[in-house]
Amino acid sequence: MNKIKEITSGKAKSLFTTDNEKHLIMNFRDDTSAFDGKKKEALLGKGAVNNQFNAFILDHLESNDVPTHHIKVINQTDSLVHRLEMFPIECVIRNIASGSICRRLGTEDGLVLESPLFEFFLKDDDLGDPLINDEHIISFGWANQVHIDQMKKLTYKINNVLSKLFLDSGLILVDFKVEFGLLDGNKIILADEFTPDGCRLWDVETGKKMDKDRFREGLGDVVESYHQVADRLGMNIILD
Ligand SMILES: Nc1ncnc2c1ncn2[C@@H]1O[C@H](COP(=O)(O)OP(=O)(O)OP(=O)(O)O)[C@@H](O)[C@H]1O
Ligand SMILES: [Mg+2]
Repeated sequence: MNKIKEITSGKAKSLFTTDNEKHLIMNFRDDTSAFDGKKKEALLGKGAVNNQFNAFILDHLESNDVPTHHIKVINQTDSLVHRLEMFPIECVIRNIASGSICRRLGTEDGLVLESPLFEFFLKDDDLGDPLINDEHIISFGWANQVHIDQMKKLTYKINNVLSKLFLDSGLILVDFKVEFGLLDGNKIILADEFTPDGCRLWDVETGKKMDKDRFREGLGDVVESYHQVADRLGMNIILD
């Protein structure tokens, strides 16, 4: 399995073509960013833990009937995925209010929401990933109603499956962000990643933050915390 040409280099991952035009290699780098790329640092070993963390979670989702782009892990930092046509949209579910929603709505950090809250954001760093709704998506042609309904349904399902998985390991899934793409022009598939870079996880006993907020807030032990979450879930992370 060889990387042929880099086609995308995002803030934390790079995508490469392979000898199969339908497959890409996703390389998880150590690069870490926050605040729409304004705070940046390379955290040694983060790419390796995130690649293998992501594989574990996507395999778990796949076995719970959530279709994902993940095919297989190739090495510590790389995985093979299905090449998709991505929606320029992020799907977020919040179980507890934290982060941007508290600034936006003046809400207390840590408020347990009456029911899980779904939000769409436009993927555009220059605009600060603005909040959008179904009407924006339809009017601007970013996706159609069938895609919207399916993305919402799958994101709620992911919330149910993963909230239970984390809670069984003593962690609260506070919120998370996922991205979807289209396979063969019609099948909606979970793409990108599910790692502590894109969700909030709090220890159920102590409330300790175990996710990228440690980087955002300069709390330290970022990669160490990701490893602790992986250990709790029974993952076997291989490092060289
Ligand atoms: N299966 C896939 N096929 C095609 N593109 C994909 C696939 N999975 C993910 N991508 C895209 O790969 C890129 C990964 O980049 P990365 O996550 O590092 O940074 P980013 O998306 O720019 O930043 P952020 O996620 O923090 O907003 C994103 O543009 C994502 O939409
Ligand atoms: Mg991304």
